[in-house]
Amino acid sequence: MCGIVAYLGPKNPLPIVLNGLQRLEYRGYDSAGIFLSDGLTRQTTKVVGKVSELRNELATKNKFDAQLGMGHTRWATHGEPNQLNAHPHVSNSGDLVLIHNGIIENYGVLKKELIERGYHFTSETDSEVLVNWIEEIKKTSGVKLGKAVQMALSQVVGAYGIVVHDNSNPMELIVARLGSPIAIGLEKEGFFVGSDATPFLDHTREVIYLEDNEMAILRAGKDIQVRQTDNDTLRTPTVEELKWNLENIQKGGFPHFMLKEIHEQPDAIRNTLRGRLFAEEGKIQISSFNEHQSVFTQARRIIIIACGTSWHAGLVGEYLIETFARIPVEVEYASEFRYRNPLIYSDDIVIPISQSGETADTLAALKLAKKAGAFIYGICNVVGSSISRETHSGMYTHAGPEIGVASTKAFTTQIAVLSLIAFKLAVIKETLSPKALRSHLIELDKVPTLMEQLIAEKEQVEEIAKIIHTATNCLYLGRGYNFPVALEGALKLKEISYIHAEGYPAAEMKHGPIALIDEAMPVVVIATRKGHYEKIVSNIQEIKSRKGIVIAIVSKGDTSVKKIADYCIEIPESSECFTPLYATLPLQFLSYYIAVLRECNVDQPRNLAKSVTVE
Ligand code: F6R
Repeated sequence: MCGIVAYLGPKNPLPIVLNGLQRLEYRGYDSAGIFLSDGLTRQTTKVVGKVSELRNELATKNKFDAQLGMGHTRWATHGEPNQLNAHPHVSNSGDLVLIHNGIIENYGVLKKELIERGYHFTSETDSEVLVNWIEEIKKTSGVKLGKAVQMALSQVVGAYGIVVHDNSNPMELIVARLGSPIAIGLEKEGFFVGSDATPFLDHTREVIYLEDNEMAILRAGKDIQVRQTDNDTLRTPTVEELKWNLENIQKGGFPHFMLKEIHEQPDAIRNTLRGRLFAEEGKIQISSFNEHQSVFTQARRIIIIACGTSWHAGLVGEYLIETFARIPVEVEYASEFRYRNPLIYSDDIVIPISQSGETADTLAALKLAKKAGAFIYGICNVVGSSISRETHSGMYTHAGPEIGVASTKAFTTQIAVLSLIAFKLAVIKETLSPKALRSHLIELDKVPTLMEQLIAEKEQVEEIAKIIHTATNCLYLGRGYNFPVALEGALKLKEISYIHAEGYPAAEMKHGPIALIDEAMPVVVIATRKGHYEKIVSNIQEIKSRKGIVIAIVSKGDTSVKKIADYCIEIPESSECFTPLYATLPLQFLSYYIAVLRECNVDQPRNLAKSVTVE
């Protein structure tokens, strides 16, 4: 969703902000803008479209030595993507400038009041209302900008990450957050602000993350003050060291981030398992489990909350935990869970799963469960993200930065973490013999190497993509552990190639979707040897009798499915519980190659955002 970048300090802010916005492109956006100031000259430039167009537009403008830059990529919520609605927004007096990520829910009431007091609006946005609300408070209360922001935010309902600037104090920036992340990079005499740390990764390793209900006053060459927005309590911020480097967030020779990230999965899973899995000894070491031993021993139920791809990983987690640890698991869409008055008990463990750690619905559902007394054990990829900070404990997936909007390595590393959790719980609950445990762990340990072999065979998937890329619909079927994989395969295809696709449990086909099957319908069937093989072979026969085009994901050496399916993609033979880790890869490649053939924007599909920070 919207991206924020700002710089205040001795360097030229223009390249810093523009390059920073480009790094945030992965979040998804439809317009972009920048504000530059040296205290006397002030310049605002906005475009509909990409940061490259903003760069071109700026090249036509007068140059001056700015000392402050504020940039924004907007993902439309209130008002269509056009120049007027793009940020930065300037107050009626022209003094205050604001960039905003989030939604001000009560903007209608505030706008009405401002109009009654003589304010006018050029955009349809909630953000323009906010900057004028701050201006009105500053004017009527005679306070400085920091105080005015604080007072204004106390009357705001919604979510925000904001940066505000006042022309009367050109060397100061006010930053605040509630629900939308804000990272502040530090250098000797300057400050960087970002929706995450990627915009300033090449300038500094030192970062401060604002907490919810906090604001920071940044004064160039001076200091940073972090305080609560709802009272004046000061906090001495913890300066954290950034571990990701620039190489991690560049394409490394691949044409798209998504392709790079698909290829990174073997190493990503190695990183997930490192220091946790000791296969030969038949042991799993998870420090957070030792710290909270009694919680895991007494757990009666696990509730997994997540959205999108992370929700699909949660479904695989349900199969894993129920199979091996025999603990009941419920998997809930965070957006439904938070609004349906769910039953939550103090001996429940709630597991929010989120790559970004910033998904608004997952964060809100987590807070609800925490308030109800559940133990919150998070699975996140982004270190220091909002969700990871709200949990009682948890595990990072260590997949490295995922920039492509379509989630790939986050999904498989989430499954790897859930496997570790399932086996660890099985040890605690004594539901798995040491021999069976060791044999499973040895198999898990081999996943990265076997994944590498699978990736080496990607050309076969590319050939199939060439045949089916013109389809308008596609069906994905799987059973057991591979039902969530079918859902994930369908999601990947629809989000990046805009082909309508549905994922179904294979047996459900007869209850409706079979009516769709004809000679124009590709049906991707996950038909691995372990797990309901005969039943899925019958399903394939049913599809073929109706002339559907069957693309089957089969175990190496399969003969039966090969006789009836139109195309087969082999994956390594494995226990059923590990098939999602392999079967997912060809489906990722399939959607990738199809999207490329259809000339779609693979890394930034239309209408989508990488982290969904509004509900
Ligand atoms: C799909 C995708 C989304 C995310 C979802 C949750 O490829 O990326 O469905 O999985 O928005 O995001 P996180 O995991 O960041 O909470």
